[in-house]
Amino acid sequence: MTFAVKEISPAGAAEITGFDCRVPTGAADLARLKQAFLDWPILCIRDQRLTPKQQATFARQWGALERQDRSTYCHPDDPDVLILSNERRADGSQVGIVDAGDFWHSDSSHIGEPCRMTMLYSVKNPDKGGDTHFINMYQVLDALPDALKQRVAGRNAIHHVAKTLNPRVTISAEREGAADYYKSREKATKPVSQPIVRTHPETGRQALYISPRFTIAIEDMDDREAQPLLDDLFRHMFSNPAWQYTHKWRDGDLVFWDNACLNHMAGGGYEYPDTRRMHRTTIVGDRPFYRAA
Ligand SMILES: [Fe+2]
Repeated sequence: MTFAVKEISPAGAAEITGFDCRVPTGAADLARLKQAFLDWPILCIRDQRLTPKQQATFARQWGALERQDRSTYCHPDDPDVLILSNERRADGSQVGIVDAGDFWHSDSSHIGEPCRMTMLYSVKNPDKGGDTHFINMYQVLDALPDALKQRVAGRNAIHHVAKTLNPRVTISAEREGAADYYKSREKATKPVSQPIVRTHPETGRQALYISPRFTIAIEDMDDREAQPLLDDLFRHMFSNPAWQYTHKWRDGDLVFWDNACLNHMAGGGYEYPDTRRMHRTTIVGDRPFYRAA
């Protein structure tokens, strides 16, 4: 296939045109795409027309797909495809997850082996809003003052899925049963320890691997010291817009990103009946690790 890769943001985003995800990707093309993914951790393939099965088939070329744990919102045509949407059925029930990704995070860092990459296929965009924001955590770490870096390199942070344990986030009133769901996760889900500085498994580069959404503490550090330290790290993370990229979706975009070196967040800003619908697939990943540079 003849396709073009063009950088669209120095924060690590590129767009790909002239590519058809419905056609099995040849070995040379897949190698080229995989290299592009290491060079730009946010890739957008434009102008796709994908059924859920086609999306899952394309995604499996990159690795095994994660089983989705919220089966209510899995696509009926392929259980590995999760629906993110604010659409409602005639009876008022929700079609997909309505508040997905409403705070900065790296996908599934609250589990031991977080997903390597996330693919979102844009089926329908709202007239207004619905952007996705990214921060390049390689660049965040590269600019971290040495004194701060020395305090965190080689240390681990605690990540947890329960929003009710995290004063830095709030629970959307839009999603039915969300408060009860997160309350039930407090004890049912074990906290997970992750390196604060993460070495990328393929590029070998280091990135800051924390997020306001999932990081709630630092291992073996009293909260009186750990919380101000996390505040400092988060302040630094948001201190330079040049490390950020905002994706303004077009219908038919397939965007995939590298969770080992990014944070991202759904921007919101749209309201039913102005609808947004995305289909999500995630590729399994490995245990994050730190290796001294
Ligand atoms: Fe996410």
